[in-house]
Amino acid sequence: MQEYTAAIIGCGRMSRGHAGAYKALDIPIVGAADIAEEGLQRAREHYGSPKTYTDYREMLAEVRPNLVSVVTAEMAHCAPVVAAAEAGVKGIVCEKPMAMSLAEGKEMLRACRENDVVLTISHQRQYGAQYVAARELVESGEIGDVRFIEAYAMAPSIHTDGTHTIHMLRSLLGDPTVVRVMAQIDGNSDYEYFGHRCDHAGNAFLSFDDGRYAHLTWGLGAPGAAERLHPAWDFDTQAYHAFVVHGEYGRVELDGDLYAVPEEASCPGGLRLAVGRDIRDIEYPWPGEGSITMEVRDLLQSIETGAPHPLSGENGYAALEVIMGIYESSRRRGAVEFPVEVTDNAFLAMCESGVFPAGS
Ligand SMILES: NC(=O)c1ccc[n+]([C@@H]2O[C@H](COP(=O)([O-])OP(=O)(O)OC[C@H]3O[C@@H](n4cnc5c(N)ncnc54)[C@H](O)[C@@H]3O)[C@@H](O)[C@H]2O)c1
Repeated sequence: MQEYTAAIIGCGRMSRGHAGAYKALDIPIVGAADIAEEGLQRAREHYGSPKTYTDYREMLAEVRPNLVSVVTAEMAHCAPVVAAAEAGVKGIVCEKPMAMSLAEGKEMLRACRENDVVLTISHQRQYGAQYVAARELVESGEIGDVRFIEAYAMAPSIHTDGTHTIHMLRSLLGDPTVVRVMAQIDGNSDYEYFGHRCDHAGNAFLSFDDGRYAHLTWGLGAPGAAERLHPAWDFDTQAYHAFVVHGEYGRVELDGDLYAVPEEASCPGGLRLAVGRDIRDIEYPWPGEGSITMEVRDLLQSIETGAPHPLSGENGYAALEVIMGIYESSRRRGAVEFPVEVTDNAFLAMCESGVFPAGS
C-alpha cells in the first residue's frame, strides 16, 4: 500500500469522526485548517501533531497531503474541494450535503475529474450494520421484486440532514436513477442550520427509471410537524429516519439509528421482515469498525485500483440533485424531470423573493 498523509479542513464537531478514521488506519494527520482558533486547538490537542493553519490554501501548498477531509459546513464545501483537487491530492472525503447548489456540485466533480482525484461524499450510513442488513434483506428476494419505498425523516431540512435519507432510500434499492420528482416544502419558519435558512418539512414523490418509486416525508423533528405530517409516526421509536420497502410478497421495515435503543434490543436499529401476516425482528451483528473508517478504507482502494467508490462524488451529486429537484418542484408547483438543469438553490431564492419571508 502507498504511504498516505491526511489533512483536515474544518476542525469542528464532525472532524472528530474523520480524525478517528485516519487514526484507525494509521494515516498521520499532517495538517489542519480552521478559521476559528477553537478548531485549531482541538486539532492540536486531539489529532496528533498537525501543522495548523487559518488558510487551507496555505496548508495545502505547505504540507502537501495526499488525502484531505473537508469538514466545513456545506456553504464552504465547494471551494476547499476544488482547491484540494488542484493542489494535487489523491483523495478527498467531503462531508454531506455535497454543496449548496448543483452548479457547485458540478464544479466539484469537474475539478476532481480533471485532476484525477477520487472524491467521496460522507453519507457514511452506507456502511452501518443495520443498513447493510436491510439492503441484503431487500436483495435476498424474500419480499420478491421491490415495488416502492416509503421513507420518513425526523430531519427538519431535506438538505442538511434529510440528505442521508435520500441517499439511503436509493441505496436500499440499489441506487436507481431518479427520473422525476414532485414535491412541496414548508419553509415558513426561521429555521437556520449550518449558517443558512432551511426548509423545515415537506413531502416528495420520486420516480425511478426502472418503474419503481418512492414516497418521502420529512420534517418529523420540527415542532408540531410530526402530528401534522404523519399521524401514525411511532413516537416511541424515535429513529433518525425510517424506511418501508414494499415487495411483491411483503415488506422490509427499518427504523434507522434509534435515538434510544431499547434495553432488550441487540441492535442499534429496528429491522423487521414482514411476509404475509408473519412479522419477524431481524438480528444483525453490531458494527465492528466505524463507518467513516470504512469509507476511507474504500477510498484508498479506489485510489489504488480505480474501483468505483460506493460514496463517489457522483453518488453524492445524485442525492444533491434530488434535494435541488425537490426545491425546484416546490418553486414551479409542478413535477421536475431529471437531469435537473437549474443551477441556483430554489429554496434560498424563494426565501429571498419573499415566498418564505424571514420571521414567518
Ligand atoms: N455525516 C454525518 O453524519 C454528519 C454529522 C454531522 C455533521 N455533518 C456535516 O459536517 C459538516 C461540518 O459539521 P460540524 O457539525 O462539524 O460543524 P462545525 O460548525 O462544528 O464545524 C465546522 C468547522 O469549519 C470551520 N470553518 C468554516 N469555514 C471554514 C473555512 N473557510 N476554512 C476552514 N475552516 C472553516 C469552522 O470554524 C468550524 O470549526 C457539515 O457539512 C455537516 O452537515 C455530517
